Amino acid sequence: MTASKKIDVFISKELIEKRVKELAEMINSEYQNQEIIIVCVLNGSFIFCADLVRHITVPLQIEMVSLSSYEGTESTGEVSFRLDVRQSLIGKNVILVEDIVDTGLTINYLLKHMKLKNLKSLKLCSLLLKRARLKIEVPVDYLGFDIEDKFVIGYGLDYDGDYRELPYIGVYGA
Ligand code: IMP
Repeated sequence: MTASKKIDVFISKELIEKRVKELAEMINSEYQNQEIIIVCVLNGSFIFCADLVRHITVPLQIEMVSLSSYEGTESTGEVSFRLDVRQSLIGKNVILVEDIVDTGLTINYLLKHMKLKNLKSLKLCSLLLKRARLKIEVPVDYLGFDIEDKFVIGYGLDYDGDYRELPYIGVYGA
């Protein structure tokens, strides 16, 4: 556990709920009668993903992946797999569900990896995007919130493993 710092609410629980429903509705209307594979990018997107899939009405399966690239508040830039999907994704509609795109390096690595798998389609859904921090162009098909350059925590997002359980998105160290 880290020493407690002041945390301000940045995006409220209510606003998150509303936006997550809207994202699910976009997905529902685009994939009518088609099956999708939701790939939850652990650990940060576990809460977002769990809320999102409960509003998705098209048939779906869920896979988990885990990548490493972060230490503390800075990306190391070097990405590697801790956990990959457990089924063949050939011919499948895949939606990657990410908590936040910051430099874009992590998700770019995953997108490149997925593109080699002969999918039917590949889309990216991210709850947050820090556009000013992007080091590489990343196509976010379903975006929750475009945010300024702040280190955020809560709703799955952590600072060194802490604060993931907060029901809102907060600003750390304000
Ligand atoms: P990127 O490779 O720089 O885009 O980093 C993506 C990953 O870094 C995310 O999946 C998060 O796990 C983590 N990350 C980036 N920014 C933040 C933040 O503000 N708070 C918590 N985690 C973050």
